[in-house]
Amino acid sequence: MKDLTHTSPPKNWDRTGLPGWAYFSDELAELEMEELFRKHWQLACHVSDVAEPGDYLAFDVGGERALIVRGRDGIVRAFHNLCRHRGSRVVTDERGHCKSALICPYHGWAFNLDGTLRGAAQPKSFPALDPVEWGLKPLETEIWQGFVFVRFKESDQPAVAEIMGRFDDELAPYDLADMVPVGTVDWSDETAVNWKAVRDVDNEGYHVAMAHPALHDLYGKGYYDEPYIGGASRSFASFNPGPGALWSVRAYKSVLPEATWLPESHRQAWLYLGLFPNAVIGVYPDSMIFYQEFPDGAGKTKLRGAAYRRRDESREMRAARYLSGRIDTITAEEDQMLTIWSCEAALSSGYDGILLSDLEYGVKSHHDHLRALLPVLNLEEPPEPGTMAEVNAEMLAGRE
Ligand code: FES
Ligand SMILES: [Fe+2]
Repeated sequence: MKDLTHTSPPKNWDRTGLPGWAYFSDELAELEMEELFRKHWQLACHVSDVAEPGDYLAFDVGGERALIVRGRDGIVRAFHNLCRHRGSRVVTDERGHCKSALICPYHGWAFNLDGTLRGAAQPKSFPALDPVEWGLKPLETEIWQGFVFVRFKESDQPAVAEIMGRFDDELAPYDLADMVPVGTVDWSDETAVNWKAVRDVDNEGYHVAMAHPALHDLYGKGYYDEPYIGGASRSFASFNPGPGALWSVRAYKSVLPEATWLPESHRQAWLYLGLFPNAVIGVYPDSMIFYQEFPDGAGKTKLRGAAYRRRDESREMRAARYLSGRIDTITAEEDQMLTIWSCEAALSSGYDGILLSDLEYGVKSHHDHLRALLPVLNLEEPPEPGTMAEVNAEMLAGRE
């Protein structure tokens, strides 16, 4: 495992962050949807969310509709949730089970679980339809550590296994692929702020001491962030010594059993792995979670996530999982207002940019990844209305 522990930022780095307009521009939000969200792997779910043949899960992101379904052959596949006849959704629920065929609710075309067309309704009214040609359109799919990733548009982003591969050895003892869902994958929340502001607060631990009393009590002394490198980031937090001062932390630490399958360094620690641009996997001794942000225009962000447990969970571990989940819920609530306040500041006449600490270098490393794909973010003022994509393309071409 590559040890990037406590990598210190270079001297004289640019501490100013992205320009304020980047958090309010609908045109930029459109470009981000195209260049970031469609062209980068999106964490869809875990294989255990579609455990049985016929289990499916669907989600929409910025005009895209994804459908993940496990075939009769046990293979998990992903498709556009788009009927080839007139474009209706093929499945209308966010999750479910279907026995043998997906039936479009509009005119009743039937698709097999491997996506091929089983048959049109009233087939004689059509010429002969090839089942593969007229099957559901597949989405690029990859499974890494039990997580299912989809990509809506091809790009030169490497495979998830390559981006996240440096964590494989560390993750092996957790056996993440064997975990099972605690509930369902949910759109847990919507927040009235740009998605980058949500990511910015999550990309640094500098605010933990002040803003997250429970997290600070749990691991404030033993926390560090490793910046985004090649599209992946890592944060590690070993628990503070002692029982903890707050009730929730004391209860969690006292009930958490010894996770003997983990190395000692990880039995009392939380690990967070980030996948650019918008997903984090949190790995705890008692459970694992994922969370991600999707923009809904410039001023709104949808949050999606889920939690998973070990298959052979003891009663104590279950209690510990409940308590760690509680700490996470409190933390998420605490973060929400901070993102809104810091983001809306850019609209104030008193706003004069920001100044990042060395402890916020993770934020800068995410911004650097953004600027590499979206060089318009280097402009202090936004391009003329209607020219965002064009100016960005010119700036990209100018770099070559
Ligand atoms: S749109 Fe699906 S059957 Fe017509
Ligand atoms: Fe936070």
